[in-house]
Amino acid sequence: MARVALVTGGQRGIGAAISEALQAQGRKVVASYAGNDAAAEAFTQRTGIPCYKFDVSDYDQCATAIAKIAAEIGPIEILVNNAGITRDGTMKRMDREMWDAVIDTNLGSCFNLAKLVWDGMAARKFGRIVNIGSINGQAGQYGQVNYAAAKSGIHGFTKALAQEGARSQITVNAIAPGYVDTEMVRAVPPDVLEKIIARIPMGRLGRAYDIARGVAFLTADDADFITGSTLSINGGQHMY
Ligand SMILES: NC(=O)c1ccc[n+]([C@@H]2O[C@H](COP(=O)([O-])OP(=O)(O)OC[C@H]3O[C@@H](n4cnc5c(N)ncnc54)[C@H](OP(=O)(O)O)[C@@H]3O)[C@@H](O)[C@H]2O)c1
Repeated sequence: MARVALVTGGQRGIGAAISEALQAQGRKVVASYAGNDAAAEAFTQRTGIPCYKFDVSDYDQCATAIAKIAAEIGPIEILVNNAGITRDGTMKRMDREMWDAVIDTNLGSCFNLAKLVWDGMAARKFGRIVNIGSINGQAGQYGQVNYAAAKSGIHGFTKALAQEGARSQITVNAIAPGYVDTEMVRAVPPDVLEKIIARIPMGRLGRAYDIARGVAFLTADDADFITGSTLSINGGQHMY
């Protein structure tokens, strides 16, 4: 039986590429999203991958959705915590709301969803969790104390949870993408983006697929000796 994989934020951007890579690997993929119904409908139509709408930062919504997915598709054996947002601003301009939104969506979501699938994975003695961090969680970034803190937190979360999961054959890893050509990065002013690309040794932005193939690698059934690691996929921009 195909294993069920949930990819949060899995209907567009990097998440869409992850969903499709896992589907190509023979997984039964479910994507989640926050509110972009048009993207979700188009994605399902194109790929056949069902999309579930819920807010990953809200524990109760996550609990309802996980129960629904288990009933309609099957228990989740592969979890990719990919959903994320930015609310950039220097400390002078950043308010508490921007801080909370980014911490809750990027980091709180990892707790919510891992918590909700954990007992089932442990009982079945199989689990794959991949959390999508960021180069900016490794290196920091001007105007992103909220995002850098959330993504840096993901790396600590991953290493701690990996220690707990090992005895139940649950692996927990992170990927730290560099700058990838998605809507999130297209929101960066062109002059800033040009400077960023100039600092990438490979001379280009990442493609969503560059990240997706890392997720496929880390979630393979035989990737059972890789846990607690962070895979940097950034064109050589930051070697950590
Ligand atoms: N792009 C990059 O260069 C880059 C670099 C490093 C790390 N990352 C990380 O990679 C991940 C994907 O980035 P991306 O560029 O593909 O982002 P994106 O194109 O902006 O897509 C974000 C996805 O997350 C979903 N989402 C956002 N908030 C949510 C919430 N509260 N509940 C449920 N779903 C939510 C969105 O759903 P809707 O479509 O419904 O809004 C969308 O599917 C993020 O964690 C990001 O931080 C990206």
